Amino acid sequence: MYRVWVTGGAGFIGSHLVRYLVRTRAEWEVHTIDALTYAGNLQNLSDILDHPRHIFHKLDIADAAQIESLWEKYPPAIIFHLAAESHVDRSILSPLDFVHTNILGTVVLLEVARKYWHGRSDVLFYQVSTDEVYGSLPEGAFFTEGSPYDPRSPYSASKAAADHLVRAYGHTYGLPYIISNCGNNYGPHQFPEKLIPLTITHLIERKPIPVYGTGQNVRDWIHVEDHVRAIVLLAEQGKRGHTYLIGAEQPRPNIEIVRLLCTLYDEIMGTTDSHQLITFVKDRPGHDFRYAIQPSPHLRELGWEPTISLSEGLRQTVIWYLSNLDWLNAVRTGEYQRYYAQQYGERLR
Ligand code: NAD
Ligand code: DAU
Repeated sequence: MYRVWVTGGAGFIGSHLVRYLVRTRAEWEVHTIDALTYAGNLQNLSDILDHPRHIFHKLDIADAAQIESLWEKYPPAIIFHLAAESHVDRSILSPLDFVHTNILGTVVLLEVARKYWHGRSDVLFYQVSTDEVYGSLPEGAFFTEGSPYDPRSPYSASKAAADHLVRAYGHTYGLPYIISNCGNNYGPHQFPEKLIPLTITHLIERKPIPVYGTGQNVRDWIHVEDHVRAIVLLAEQGKRGHTYLIGAEQPRPNIEIVRLLCTLYDEIMGTTDSHQLITFVKDRPGHDFRYAIQPSPHLRELGWEPTISLSEGLRQTVIWYLSNLDWLNAVRTGEYQRYYAQQYGERLR
């Protein structure tokens, strides 16, 4: 049996990755390692939680002693490292949590990998990263594999630090690694703090939809399942020591995404007035203007193509949230209400 770890496997992207691995890799034993923060949720894994080739461990990745004892019991051949504090607005409110998990947590994993994988070339540290490490683009430009790092929020700075540490372990200790940097994911099970699930939640509840600034900021969107397939393909066939850009070439201004969601919601529910909910609010501090990805040519050579168009993916996503109101209500705990009041209280007053 080939054993892999997925850190952050109870989160949004992690749970899609765990499910994909359990379903498609019959020889793999998949270990989910997750601290179950506000963003982690065993409901996200409910259909495979008790699968015979899936084992869940509730652990903080920054807890070196616990990670080391887990390694002694279940040494992995691949670590898919996704555990992170992932929300930019929260990083602006509380940067220290981002340093703890995204930087310290990554080093703890790298340290056990250095100790136990010493001299091995048949193992892999797979760092799941973000296009935000490259900073903000002018109109017409694209991020490429060679773009210089220029992180500008506490979140992206913490992810950039983690990426640099992974590369440093590769260079200094010979750790086999791959880093992939991807744009904005969307799809089922995304925590309703991010633009798309927040907009859908507000459509369902007929509440004002907050659009920061002018709504002209551009993000490059990809369905989470297309991202997950790219990660697994790269883990199996990608070049070690290489950085890949994953994208579906769908950059859009935020306002276009929000308007499309309003139109889809009206079509699905038979309402006509969703666009009236759109409300322009005070901008995010330091808001990066534009992200757009030129995907790595090697990904295409390996046979990867995005398969889910934005309009179809968003339609499916709206329907998923409408069909999973229990999930939506369960994740919006008191902690969520406190965050929401802090982030939107003034903006939507
Ligand atoms: P998420 O916030 O939905 O999930 C993060 C998961 O990590 C949660 O399950 C949480 O419980 C867990 N976690 C947090 N701190 C932990 C700790 N100290 N120890 C163990 N587990 C911990 O995030 P996501 O959107 O699924 O993103 C996953 C990864 O992909 C992150 O590394 C993120 O930077 C990266 N990424 C995300 C996107 C995106 O659009 N969401 C795009 C590119 C890259
Ligand atoms: O680019 C990849 C990144 O995408 C990931 O690394 C992050 O983990 C992920 O959170 C995401 O970051 P963004 O900041 O781009 O995502 P978010 O959904 O928070 O915001 C998307 C855009 O929408 C951004 O320009 C800010 C804007 N926005 C967001 C929210 C929550 C609004 O206008 N209103 C809102 O209420």
